[in-house]
Amino acid sequence: MKHFLSVKEAGDIMSLVGLAKACKAKPYENKKLGENKTMGLIFMNPSLRTRLSTQKAALNLGMNVMIMSFTGEGWALETEEGVIMNGDKAEHIIEAAAVVGEYCDIIGLRSFPSLKDQKADYAEPVLNAFVKYSGKPLVNMESATRHPLQSLADVLTIEEFKTTEKPKVVLTWANHPRALPQSVPNSFAEWINQTDYEFVIAQPEGFELSKEFSGKAKILYNQDEAFEGADFIYAKNWSSYKHYGERYFGKESWMVSAEKMKLTNNAKFMHCLPVRRNVIVEDAVIDSTNSIVIQEAGNRVWAAQAVIQSILQTN
Ligand code: CP
Repeated sequence: MKHFLSVKEAGDIMSLVGLAKACKAKPYENKKLGENKTMGLIFMNPSLRTRLSTQKAALNLGMNVMIMSFTGEGWALETEEGVIMNGDKAEHIIEAAAVVGEYCDIIGLRSFPSLKDQKADYAEPVLNAFVKYSGKPLVNMESATRHPLQSLADVLTIEEFKTTEKPKVVLTWANHPRALPQSVPNSFAEWINQTDYEFVIAQPEGFELSKEFSGKAKILYNQDEAFEGADFIYAKNWSSYKHYGERYFGKESWMVSAEKMKLTNNAKFMHCLPVRRNVIVEDAVIDSTNSIVIQEAGNRVWAAQAVIQSILQTN
């Protein structure tokens, strides 16, 4: 694997899930692989799980890890090419990415969308600039449009908890007070579309994801109908793709409640976290034994380790 930007680089995703399982079974088996190599983790936005799980994964492989957050540290970055830099941006991403590339063997990057300009966000300017100018393998730690490390951990978690060969997996939109990116649902859909699971997306009108991501998913506008017989409920809020970046707060009825979970086939509850309790999901659901959000977050380590190991073995 040269880079890990989306499901495209994953190849056969079940092989990668298998590698993640192997990493989980024997975390230090390849401790020599990353010796004297450096992983750089660059954050343009906050993180808990991605930062710690990716760091742990790199350490398990014997790598050195350097972490830099641009939310308070680092120079304000200009991303547009050919501009006259006489404003408040002190450094161009062309040099910044190249310099990080001088210090690191693999680079992990987190860069959220603006949610103001769909075309600009979906062109992934920050991620692509790092690919172009760093000269090093890139791991997408959540970009404007995708969060593949999360999705790999999600598929691993479903594989561990499924009780039927082809589970019914429901991605449901849920209420939220802020406008959130489409990266997690886009990526989740992109990865689940690579499996043979039954896949349903439940959402209010106007919250359709780009067809590029929703693919073969059955789209339902009635959450109760979607929940019927489900084996996994994956909750997430996202802002509108169609009316780009618009949020829709006040849809309290879309919260995942214990009452709604009764419609399912004793479904497991999933969410990438962080989650707003009693807005996205009722306490009674996330605190129940059917909630697997902590195991899902734990699996982020093995997803990251499988990806970093694959990159180390290729480059
Ligand atoms: N799920 C996830 O990516 O969590 P963080 O934003 O805390 O990294």
